Amino acid sequence: MKKRKLKKAVIVYLVLMMLIGASVFVFVQKNGKVPSNEKEEEKYPKEIEEKLAKLNHPEKELNYFNLNYLDRYLSYQKSNPSLNVEDIITRVNIGLDNKYYTNTSVSPYLNTNYLLVNKYISLGEDYIPDDLVTVDDCVVTYKKIELVSEAKDAFLKLCHKAKEDGFTIRVMSSYRSYDYQKQLYQNYVDSDGMEEADTYSARPGFSEHQTGLTIDVDNAKVTYTDFEKTNEFKWMIENAHRFGFILRYPKDKEHITGYSYESWHYRYVGVDIATYIHEHNITFDEYYVRFIENKMEY
Ligand code: DAL
Ligand code: ZN
Repeated sequence: MKKRKLKKAVIVYLVLMMLIGASVFVFVQKNGKVPSNEKEEEKYPKEIEEKLAKLNHPEKELNYFNLNYLDRYLSYQKSNPSLNVEDIITRVNIGLDNKYYTNTSVSPYLNTNYLLVNKYISLGEDYIPDDLVTVDDCVVTYKKIELVSEAKDAFLKLCHKAKEDGFTIRVMSSYRSYDYQKQLYQNYVDSDGMEEADTYSARPGFSEHQTGLTIDVDNAKVTYTDFEKTNEFKWMIENAHRFGFILRYPKDKEHITGYSYESWHYRYVGVDIATYIHEHNITFDEYYVRFIENKMEY
């Protein structure tokens, strides 16, 4: 009698275990992390899937892909058929499919080293960087030269190392207030007209000089517009990134930066970002949309 009861209990137990096992199996099949391309492909409606396919499904590869811009990517691809998908997405994210100074916004990253200013992102009329300090070494004597403190320290290290190597690097323009840039830009418009002025001067609120992180340099011998011809320029191209500075408006990148080549204009972004930009030969605009925008929380 006892044995029979035991046998019954064992059978009930086994049946129960089988039922539980089967339920778990069905649950995992339905909800578990089953590797399934099907599942991902089912994520979007058919119409969107077809558009994504035209771009080789960037949503799987590029974390800066923005689904809201899908139609803009496609029309940019149409007008720039030789560009690869990475560049299409990067350039649309920068805003380059819109005219300069349209769809503008104020930067959400004021007072950071990775603050981007260009023809789509401004600083606003009232922005004055925190922590502006006067620079009185390695600068022209006839002007007040101010920088954000961290950029000043980095620049002085750069200047002193250059001196050690036998080169003279001197700042001739740095922080500019909104009002100063307004006057400067207006003077250029008056002499060259707006279209021409826009190729080399920023409109007020849109100048990187208002960040306090930017320097225009010369070698104290030739005018700054000839800086490219100097050995100091060569030194800067090889070394500026080690101190956190980048050439902000390089040659052949006018279509991305929106400005003519400026061999004398350098921007402090910190050593890590500067080194990446230097090694990958990209602009700060491209770096920003790939690595900074929408990825940091403040
Ligand atoms: N020359 C640069 C673009 C400026 O005006 O800020
Ligand atoms: Zn400049």
